[in-house]
Amino acid sequence: MPVQLKTLIPLFIVFISLFLVVRHFLIPESFGKYGYYRADSMDEIAALPINHVGKAICVECHDTEGAQLESDMHSGLSCEVCHGPGSKHVDDMEPASIEKQSSRDFCGKCHNLNPARRIEVINQVDIKLHYPERENCIDCHNPHAVWELKD
Ligand code: HEC
Ligand code: HEC
Ligand code: HEC
Ligand code: HEC
Repeated sequence: MPVQLKTLIPLFIVFISLFLVVRHFLIPESFGKYGYYRADSMDEIAALPINHVGKAICVECHDTEGAQLESDMHSGLSCEVCHGPGSKHVDDMEPASIEKQSSRDFCGKCHNLNPARRIEVINQVDIKLHYPERENCIDCHNPHAVWELKD
């Protein structure tokens, strides 16, 4: 046996044991119970409060906006895409508890020209060139019925 192995083998044994000990303390208890993840994380995530309520509930009180949305090209969107999570608002029915996103940047998240998005799937404009003199897209487009243009 080459002499250097006399030092290297014990060193390896020390490092491998150290690794196993540290690993033992770092790995959470429920890791690997069902697969390569921490099983307890499922209960923790399931226990988080639910903040979104879904379109059907919004429409129970806001049937006008619901019908308008269905009538035009935004029919595929959920109300909470633009209005944010609605569970608090459904409880208190206060206008202040719900958002109304309408800035150019917000509409631009979906509609600003982006070569990675196919124009046949989602229509896009260059928001720097498309009527930049106006502060908001909804100065002209009705967010619920986008082709009911205001003048
Ligand atoms: C239980 C009835 C009810 C439900 C369900 C409900 N709302 Fe409302 N909403 C109201 C009432 C009442 C107002 C206040 C109307 C007013 O003061 O003119 C309001 C106002 C609003 C406003 C106007 C806020 C403002 O600043 O003027 C928006 C936007 C809105 N709701 C969106 C939603 C969305 C999105 C949902 C679903 C997540 C929803 N609402 C679900 C009752 C409801
Ligand atoms: C594309 C984004 C978008 C979607 C989707 C959307 N809204 Fe809106 N909504 C807006 C914006 C922006 C305003 C503010 C309009 C304004 O100030 O003129 C608004 C205003 C409202 C208002 C207040 C109307 C008023 O006259 O004050 C209600 C109520 C409302 N939305 C309900 C809904 C409901 C219910 C849905 C789903 C069925 C929905 N919205 C879907 C963007 C959206
Ligand atoms: C979550 C993504 C999303 C957001 C946010 C959004 N839209 Fe849309 N919009 C769509 C989709 C999807 C369509 C239907 C497919 C298409 O563009 O042809 C559409 C269609 C449109 C159209 C009609 C395009 C056509 O092909 O004739 C206009 C105009 C429009 N949106 C304006 C707006 C305005 C203004 C806002 C901001 C108030 C907005 N959108 C916010 C997803 C979005
Ligand atoms: C001054 C009014 C006005 C404003 C502000 C405005 N638009 Fe438009 N938009 C129009 C008109 C009119 C059309 C029809 C085609 C054209 O003139 O480009 C249109 C067309 C569109 C289309 C369809 C494009 C096509 O080629 O068919 C989309 C998507 C759109 N607008 C999104 C937006 C978004 C997003 C904003 C905010 C960044 C916005 N618009 C602001 C008036 C406006």
